[in-house]
Amino acid sequence: MEIKTAKNTPYPVEVVKGQTYYWCSCGLSNNQPFCDGSHQRTDLVPEEFVASESKTVYFCGCKQSANGPLCDGTHKSL
Ligand code: FES
Repeated sequence: MEIKTAKNTPYPVEVVKGQTYYWCSCGLSNNQPFCDGSHQRTDLVPEEFVASESKTVYFCGCKQSANGPLCDGTHKSL
């Protein structure tokens, strides 16, 4: 099954130091950019992200980033 692009821009999220987030890698979640269990229809699994500090991070929305759950600018070339 192909990865679905949730949207072609990243999701800015205020993360909290020490908290764990589960980034949706399949693009099917209705709770973007996080997992809602929709991947069970696919062979993909969410990626764990542990915040090393409290700050705004940009979770990838296009699901094509080479930098795991975080935007690396790849969406600009889609
Ligand atoms: S949103 Fe995917 S690389 Fe930027």
